Amino acid sequence: MKVRIAPSLLAADFSKLGDEVRTVEIGGADLLHVDVMDGHFVPPITVGANVVRDIRKVTRIPLDVHLMVERPDDLLDQFVDAGAACVTVHVEAARHLDRTVRYIKSRGIRAGVALNPATPLNSVYYVLGLVDIVLVMSVNPGWGGQPFLDYTLAKVEALKSEIRHRKLNTLIEVDGGVGLDNAAKLAKAGANILVAGTAVFGASDYAIAIRDLRAAGSSSASEP
Ligand code: DX5
Ligand code: ZN
Repeated sequence: MKVRIAPSLLAADFSKLGDEVRTVEIGGADLLHVDVMDGHFVPPITVGANVVRDIRKVTRIPLDVHLMVERPDDLLDQFVDAGAACVTVHVEAARHLDRTVRYIKSRGIRAGVALNPATPLNSVYYVLGLVDIVLVMSVNPGWGGQPFLDYTLAKVEALKSEIRHRKLNTLIEVDGGVGLDNAAKLAKAGANILVAGTAVFGASDYAIAIRDLRAAGSSSASEP
């Protein structure tokens, strides 16, 4: 099983965003992870749908939008219209998660649900058959460059076992502190998509960083 690499633009140089996007596209990125923060769900403010719309024009890579916002329902249409391939909402912010997930899917794109490190896995179990992706946060959301929280590895394993048990195709995405030191372990535990901000944009050669992460992950990725 091949693990997919999703560079997180949060760690890119925003003064030359188009170039950064093209460089990771040429470098082999499978998805482009866009972190949207509203200053409420998490303290920082990052980018809105206008940035997604403009990135869409310069790349063919699917845009994986991670909404770290309060009241995500108010923003869904904006991001779908801007060209997101997948929109992920936090279970801690989506009060009517089932309705939100169904709405995203009704707009014809993939729906993801994200869990903060301390949020129990069973908060997504009832909608597991509806969602395309579960994003397991392996740091507390808000900033790039934080150290990976080791206990989240067991969470990935437990989620994978539930997905297997129920014979679902749900993908597991892991976000935060992912690097060469943990990519193999994460893939073995069941991660299908590795988000990497600092590990890609902090490297001198993005293509080599993506290739090495994929190689580390793919050599030990577990079967579905
Ligand atoms: C954190 C974001 C992450 C972040 C990861 O709140 O959701 O996507 O960009 O950055 P690194 O890979 O540097 O931990
Ligand atoms: Zn993210």
